[in-house]
Amino acid sequence: MLMLVGGDITKLEVDAIVNAANAALSGGGGVDGAIHAAAGPELLAACRALGSCEPGDAKITPGFALLAKHVIHAVGPVWRGGDYEEERLLRSCYRRALELAIEAGAQSIAFPCISTGAYRFPRPLAAAIAIDETRHSTLPRIVFCCFDPGDIRLYRRSADTVGVQLH
Ligand code: APR
Repeated sequence: MLMLVGGDITKLEVDAIVNAANAALSGGGGVDGAIHAAAGPELLAACRALGSCEPGDAKITPGFALLAKHVIHAVGPVWRGGDYEEERLLRSCYRRALELAIEAGAQSIAFPCISTGAYRFPRPLAAAIAIDETRHSTLPRIVFCCFDPGDIRLYRRSADTVGVQLH
């Protein structure tokens, strides 16, 4: 089931939340900063132990002080106009995050709108990719957490366009 919620991803009770991380896994602003702040300093230590992560890939850590058991750190592409494999890399983030969640035995996962903040990926295209890459997943509950209220509308429109039901 695909679900849409507004607000802060760190407050969600799901098995895994996805972070929009940077390649150094060093923490940052935006959703990355919020997740590190809510999880506590052990999260940064766990990220350091993992080293870096290529754009399009993802790595998993515990959730520490979060309600979520796991954090999946996905590194989205920086939007550079669309001719630098940005779409392929964003698709790959969603696929890798789902793979890691399933390997970890998660039944539920929440995604932020990866790459659409500091990395400037166009929001309508990012929403369409998020729906398309998750719609056939076997994971029982997939939540899109839209911090920006405008994204709620975009996700609904993208889902309607391809005939997907968003709860
Ligand atoms: N919960 C859910 N979504 C959030 C939250 C939150 N608490 N805070 C911000 N967002 C949303 C933003 O509104 C945006 O739609 O997350 C989306 C992604 O924005 P960014 O966090 O800027 O992520 P991204 O564009 O992928 O850029 C990644 O930013 O913070 C750094 O370390 C990070 O360098 C990396 C870069």
